[in-house]
Amino acid sequence: MTVRIGMIGPGGMGQAHLDRIRTVIAGGELVGVSDIDPGNAKRVAEKYGVTAFDSSADLINDPDVDAVMICSYGPAHEADVIASIKAGKRVFCEKPLAPTADACERIMAAEQEAGRKLVTVGFMRRFDESYRQMKAILDSGEIGEALMVHCAHRNPTVPEHYTWDAAINDTAIHEIDTMRWLLGEEFVSARVDKPKKTSQRFEHLQDPLVLVLTTQSGTRVDDEVFVNCQYGYDIRCELVGETGVVSLGDQNQVVRRDSVGQHNKITMDHNERFWGAFVAEVQQWLDAVARDEHTGPSAWDGYAAACVCDAGVRALSADGVVAVEMMDKPALYA
Ligand code: NAI
Repeated sequence: MTVRIGMIGPGGMGQAHLDRIRTVIAGGELVGVSDIDPGNAKRVAEKYGVTAFDSSADLINDPDVDAVMICSYGPAHEADVIASIKAGKRVFCEKPLAPTADACERIMAAEQEAGRKLVTVGFMRRFDESYRQMKAILDSGEIGEALMVHCAHRNPTVPEHYTWDAAINDTAIHEIDTMRWLLGEEFVSARVDKPKKTSQRFEHLQDPLVLVLTTQSGTRVDDEVFVNCQYGYDIRCELVGETGVVSLGDQNQVVRRDSVGQHNKITMDHNERFWGAFVAEVQQWLDAVARDEHTGPSAWDGYAAACVCDAGVRALSADGVVAVEMMDKPALYA
């Protein structure tokens, strides 16, 4: 079965997904797009030879749309995810599922009312081969329990509209989800360390910062978020176990040796660094939609990440350790 896809908000991320669906991902066909900016919807519809819907409601309820991809910006996700659930359609929603835990709770309530999991959240790092190998080593027990994880999330630059709290709920949310998945447990507390600020930033930002999280069993995760590092998109992770250490390989690229010395190319953005992960997450989602099954990170994962972000944002604006507040997991997500 070819899954007929309707996409809401085909901007940078959405069109990157569409290009992969057109070229390297099997089993999906775009049938239409909608956007709050009708000019963008028209441009993208012409580029892909599909329908430009007047509204997300028209797209979601169109009988030719089997499944919905939501790639609009975070605050717009909730309404369209809930409308897709009410229409009984499977939905892939880019991260964040919604910007607050309260909004994610409303999405989970709609799913529980529908009685089945329809929502997959685009936490693509779970599909990255290097993180998967790291998890396989941890799960094998060969290096004992995880004691600490040191992460870094560096971006070349961010635009002026990147808000003061985005370092946590737009950027660190990737490590938050990946660490929940890697370690297989929830976080209970958050703290933010605020080192000397780079001069290469907009005034309203604390950049860099270090988010320090603790899990239920006491594993400590620190995440350096440095979004104006200038030199590249650099994602680092070192897991310290009781009898060994596992680190992500550097950039998944070859190493060059010449008269300059030994060096390798630095990736400049998420699409370059996580290309394979993006392909794998959407391929797995389309395969599952064709079987009418749920797969991948659920609305619960979106909610849990939002709860940790909420605590992290509180810790960013007030010094000290902040508790992560999270409801018990509803039976649908057990
Ligand atoms: P963008 O600004 O390039 O595209 C967003 C699009 O959504 C625009 O065309 C905009 O007009 C449209 N839009 C905004 N509000 C809307 C609404 N209410 N209804 C319909 N359309 C609406 O943004 P970008 O970078 O493509 O980000 C989109 C989403 O993807 C965000 O949730 C972002 O966090 C996520 N993202 C995920 C990444 C990842 O690594 N998984 C990387 C970059 C973005």
